[in-house]
Amino acid sequence: MSQQHVLRFPPGFLWGTASAAYQCEGGNTNNQWYRWEQEGHILSGDTCGQAADWWEHAEHDFLLAEQMENNALRLSLEWSRIEPVEGQWDSTALERYRAMLLDLRRLHLTPVVTLHHFTDPLWFTERGGFAHGENVRFFIRYVQHVVAALQDVNSFWITFNEPNVYAFQGYLMGVFPPGEKDLVRTFQVLRNLMQAHVEAFYAIRTIRPQAQIGYCLHYRLFDPANSLSLLDRSAASIQENMFTWSALQAGETGRFTFPAGRVLSPLVHAAGARDYHGVNYYTREIVSFDPRRPAEAFGRRFVRPGSVRNDDGLSDSFGEIYPWGLYRILKSVYQRTRGNKPLYITENGFSDRLDDRRPAALLAHLAVLQRAIQDGIPVRGYFHWTLVDNFEWNDGWYVRFGLIELDPVTQKRTPRRSASMFGEICQANAITEAIVERYAPELNNIIFGTTDALSRQIPV
Ligand code: FCB
Repeated sequence: MSQQHVLRFPPGFLWGTASAAYQCEGGNTNNQWYRWEQEGHILSGDTCGQAADWWEHAEHDFLLAEQMENNALRLSLEWSRIEPVEGQWDSTALERYRAMLLDLRRLHLTPVVTLHHFTDPLWFTERGGFAHGENVRFFIRYVQHVVAALQDVNSFWITFNEPNVYAFQGYLMGVFPPGEKDLVRTFQVLRNLMQAHVEAFYAIRTIRPQAQIGYCLHYRLFDPANSLSLLDRSAASIQENMFTWSALQAGETGRFTFPAGRVLSPLVHAAGARDYHGVNYYTREIVSFDPRRPAEAFGRRFVRPGSVRNDDGLSDSFGEIYPWGLYRILKSVYQRTRGNKPLYITENGFSDRLDDRRPAALLAHLAVLQRAIQDGIPVRGYFHWTLVDNFEWNDGWYVRFGLIELDPVTQKRTPRRSASMFGEICQANAITEAIVERYAPELNNIIFGTTDALSRQIPV
């Protein structure tokens, strides 16, 4: 095979999958998502139940990750297990997490631990959760407790998963708990989460100076339906700023972009409070001007007609599969942060129950990622969402993101084709022509062709 037909990743690149406690562990009945489920908000009518049974048997799946040649794994800790009652700590929960982290290390999988992935203990919810700035201190106390207890077995921390999704889905769209639709509160929640990140960063830094600490945002592009229309362009750009860039800018400078910046005071001590940028990328949306939608910055959002799509969810679509968007996002994060820190793809994945688009989609995204690295953007790892099918929030079991299929009733695992492909890429630390030929030969010319071919819409 000739040299130019291999796309190599840098030595030491982290390859793994990402997951979250509530979606995998099972048996979490003490947080606001469980209550939300009990209130009947899960659109599929499913219950999380045993989930992927990680509280009992996560190690079985860790072994599958190791067999897939991964060298890292991202999971989250469930605050409501560790602090089930305000100020009371459950040491057995921490011991269980310690056992999981030790097992990952035994398998040479570098653990990456998220401290908050959407779920709050019920006692915290009852105090008003992150809508009240004074509650941030409870989160910091939890972080100090956990990091002090686990710092010898983990040094890569993600404080928050997607503050923007938590705020917008829960307080503006009303589809995540607490189901509110209030723009000002959405902005306040976003600010409180970002401030909590800053304080958590310094709390962890004090306990463990060598730790790597950051947060991840959900980075979504909003493109104008007609790029020549000023109205479409401004509606798209306000939406993108609000959802995607405001939090990043606040994380960098303390100041939120318009319109959030109009109602929020700047963050305190934000500048410098992260060691890397965590990028979750899934899709883009198309926006056209619509005077009937003042609450959405006069923009109507839709999936690009004719695009290759993820399987739809029940309330929302998971949208277009748009590999080049990953390059655009990475470049934009890099430029907006003036290249000050390394980047990690902390999530990227596809809802595709039949796995008939995922192999090509994943290959295309990884080829785009490799191009970004070649172009000088310092991306140090890739975490695919997700290892085994898990409970997808308000869609329940309806959509399937796993490289490995899971039957939640029998707990039977069946690896999808994508799992073997991902394993081959991780093992090679490269995309080889043989892999492309085996899994998506139609992409051969595009992946090993010119930049131009990659940047055009990749037919997955
Ligand atoms: C992300 C979430 C993750 C999962 C994927 C599909 O926004 O962080 O928990 O729901 O989407």
